[in-house]
Amino acid sequence: MTSLLIPDNYVPRSNLLEGKTLLVTGAGDGIGRTAALTYASHGATVLLLGRTGSKLDAVYDEIEGAGGAKPAIIEMDLSTATEESYINLAASLSEAFPCLDGILHNAALLGERRPISDAGYTAWMEVMQVNVNAQFLLTRYLLPLLQQAPRASIILTSSGVGRTGKAYWGAYAVSKFATEGFMQVLADELENISKVRVNTLNPKGTNTAMRRTAYPAEEPTKNPSPEDIMGPYLYLMGDDSDGVTGKAFDAR
Ligand SMILES: NC(=O)c1ccc[n+]([C@@H]2O[C@H](COP(=O)([O-])OP(=O)(O)OC[C@H]3O[C@@H](n4cnc5c(N)ncnc54)[C@H](OP(=O)(O)O)[C@@H]3O)[C@@H](O)[C@H]2O)c1
Repeated sequence: MTSLLIPDNYVPRSNLLEGKTLLVTGAGDGIGRTAALTYASHGATVLLLGRTGSKLDAVYDEIEGAGGAKPAIIEMDLSTATEESYINLAASLSEAFPCLDGILHNAALLGERRPISDAGYTAWMEVMQVNVNAQFLLTRYLLPLLQQAPRASIILTSSGVGRTGKAYWGAYAVSKFATEGFMQVLADELENISKVRVNTLNPKGTNTAMRRTAYPAEEPTKNPSPEDIMGPYLYLMGDDSDGVTGKAFDAR
């Protein structure tokens, strides 16, 4: 699979996302937390979805403290949420907002690092539920609200092991291949009938809890921090990428 980089020397406008309502999953920690803060600092109203209320509260307070638009918290465990929870979420968001301008699907589980011959079914299913099925359900039920926006962006978070398979990355790698497939199918379906664009973004090695768990022997500061890779997250979410769809991006 060929992956792309955003245009060289891209500089986002400070008000790039003004007037937009954006949903970020896994907004309490890691890349999702930084993306939520960054989107808010560029003018967006951010809907913070995650499973740990205290982390979401802290992001909420940080956005308010910085003078950003009032965010909203959606506490939801994507491993256990039922289809009905997504239907109810879509209904309440439709009442609160005229449209949704974008979703950053970022929440994910690393799961077991084992050979397939030794993988546990329960752990496998949990990774698939969070990394694949939750993305489907959220997108499926929020698509009508995204289609109300003049133009909208769906970013799905990929990984190097979702583009070239690698031993012992198990369900996580397979879930990221599924994410690439989901992006291609949906982008193809929407391309000529809608102003909703759909792309994947691989952040590549970034200093977060997930990276530190996956590579415990690695010096954490060897990798950029989430703040260092926000250019592509802004480019793909804002109107500067209008018309770009069905593509697989690398953050660097
Ligand atoms: N960091 C890297 O080097 C790297 C490289 C390639 C791809 N990625 C991808 O980048 C994305 C962000 O990763 P990260 O490194 O920022 O990971 P992270 O630090 O582990 O953060 C993951 C986020 O997802 C949330 N989450 C996990 N399970 C959830 C569930 N069941 N329901 C709701 N939220 C859930 C976590 O919530 P809690 O904080 O409450 O647990 C956390 O906010 C992921 O899609 C990952 O696969 C990361």
